[in-house]
Amino acid sequence: MENVSWNQSGDRVVILDQTKLPNQVDYIELGTAEDVYQAIFQLKVRGAPAIGICAAFSMYVLALTMPHGSYKEFCREFSRTKEYLASSRPTAVNLRWALDRMEKVVTSRASSSILEICEKLKEEALSIQREDREMCRRIAEYGLSLVKDGDGILTHCNAGPLATSRYGTALGPIFLGKEKGIHFRIFADETRPLLQGARLTSYELQKGGIDVTLICDNMASMVMKNGWVQACFVGCDRVAANGDTANKIGTSGVAILAKYYGIPFYVLGPSSTIDLDCPTGADIPIELRTPQEIKEQFYTHPMALPETKCYNPAFDVTDHSLITAVVTDQGIFREPYTQSLRQIRK
Ligand code: MRU
Repeated sequence: MENVSWNQSGDRVVILDQTKLPNQVDYIELGTAEDVYQAIFQLKVRGAPAIGICAAFSMYVLALTMPHGSYKEFCREFSRTKEYLASSRPTAVNLRWALDRMEKVVTSRASSSILEICEKLKEEALSIQREDREMCRRIAEYGLSLVKDGDGILTHCNAGPLATSRYGTALGPIFLGKEKGIHFRIFADETRPLLQGARLTSYELQKGGIDVTLICDNMASMVMKNGWVQACFVGCDRVAANGDTANKIGTSGVAILAKYYGIPFYVLGPSSTIDLDCPTGADIPIELRTPQEIKEQFYTHPMALPETKCYNPAFDVTDHSLITAVVTDQGIFREPYTQSLRQIRK
């Protein structure tokens, strides 16, 4: 089953609840804008491409319940709901990108009936999902050309099939390699504080029959020093025009370590994650999350006093100078990124 789909009657979005993994495979239905906002905010659906797909599927379902009396009224409600969903997570550009695509379907059809527009919204959501599948496959092929059989690859967070539609981005070359009989040894950072590496990456790779070793984030230096890592593959939530890349908190530390140990550091993502309107990493909004994730979540008892201050940014920005290449569905891009990334077609 897909991570994101519709129920049989087509009036609800069905997602795999990623917060329950790896212990429970649970699908939940989303019927209201509030359901969708909360599912994205609480990371029930997560990963830049997957939240874009979920938002697109949701806008179709929500459009069905919007006032169908007048085009103007429908547009107003569509835009209000779109902005509400876009505010659920600010860093991953794919969310707004997918919502903008859905809105364009509406704004470019002033002379169509609302029912016709809804049909087109359904087609657009399916196109976004299908294109993501195709993009992931191409990223996997480009990524695979950068490594060889037997290499050790370190990854951070989760940029696998769960975070996309299929294959994933950073994990795409690993799954494609397996299909082609090319094997890698993967080191998965557990990824504090929400443990996407432990709960999702090691789960997906293990289930896929791939050699994966789970490590705590602070062990990356050790495995690199031991000579066990030949490349780092990470995903991205937004790549600025100069190549600076926002990805899960801790990614920039991995890049700095990789530079020190002379290990290539690759960022893998679909062209929808490249934001040419965003000049540098300093322009990327970084989501701040609740201290509860650091102090309590996943623990039986709180691990810090209630009054202890916490700083919990969900993402950090890796400076472009630390990135060996940005691997996309449109090819492999290298420094100077301000020039090379400009070739990306939208
Ligand atoms: O907070 P998350 O779990 O949504 O963060 C996800 C990441 O940082 C991924 O690496 C990124 O979205 C790319 S997923 C293909």
